[in-house]
Amino acid sequence: MLDMERIPTHVAVVMDGNGRWADKRRMPKMAGHNAGMKAMKEIVKRASSIGIRHLTVYAFSTENWKRSTEEIGGIFKLIVVYVDNELKELHANNVRVKILGDYSMLPADSVDRINKAIDMTKNNTGMQFNIALNYGGRDDIRRATADIARLVQAGEIKPEDITEDMIGDYLWTGKMHADCGDPELIIRTSGEMRLSNYLLWQSAYSEFVFTDVLWPDFTPERFEEAIEEYQGRNRRFGGR
Ligand code: FPP
Repeated sequence: MLDMERIPTHVAVVMDGNGRWADKRRMPKMAGHNAGMKAMKEIVKRASSIGIRHLTVYAFSTENWKRSTEEIGGIFKLIVVYVDNELKELHANNVRVKILGDYSMLPADSVDRINKAIDMTKNNTGMQFNIALNYGGRDDIRRATADIARLVQAGEIKPEDITEDMIGDYLWTGKMHADCGDPELIIRTSGEMRLSNYLLWQSAYSEFVFTDVLWPDFTPERFEEAIEEYQGRNRRFGGR
């Protein structure tokens, strides 16, 4: 049973396995991503209804640009479809949408829908839905470093003033951006047991739950099971 008193504040997900789901059915890759979007829709609803404050999904990584232009274009198109179909309901459910990553180089219609979603939901007070788009953990740290270097260059701070908290503030998840902090739990589907450049700094003390289930088959019940597994863990943060 899920312990409603100990729901994690921030859960991050790697939605892996869409391609294999489609391969198994001899369907095109995009059918897998489409099914993945539907699964994501259900997880967003469940996460919000059980009181998670921040749900972060890895929708497109800095490495995903290596995929075919057809697949990349298809994923960007799904963003348009998702916002067109879901924004009303997200807003009705008091969900706030934020993006982790620089999405300015996406196609204009995707950028337009993302801006619309951010703008419409910006004053909502329910769950924050963070979509990592054109996101890479190393790039996140590089960018935060450059921002802090500019402060040093301008004479606003000295190198010895740089703290771990300050670096955290300048990451996409930090106070200067989405302000969602570090995830207590990271879930990755489809049997792969690696981080793949996701939230590198932020995952220092995260618990990991891996499941063989392919993302399109990942149901809200599976999601709750992953949280139950997390609740059974003993987090020590390097202490006793
Ligand atoms: C990984 O599966 C999945 C992705 C790279 C894309 C995830 C995107 C969505 C679920 C689409 C919708 C997103 C939004 C924000 C509307 P994979 O293709 O790497 O699977 P494989 O490892 O089996 O090939």
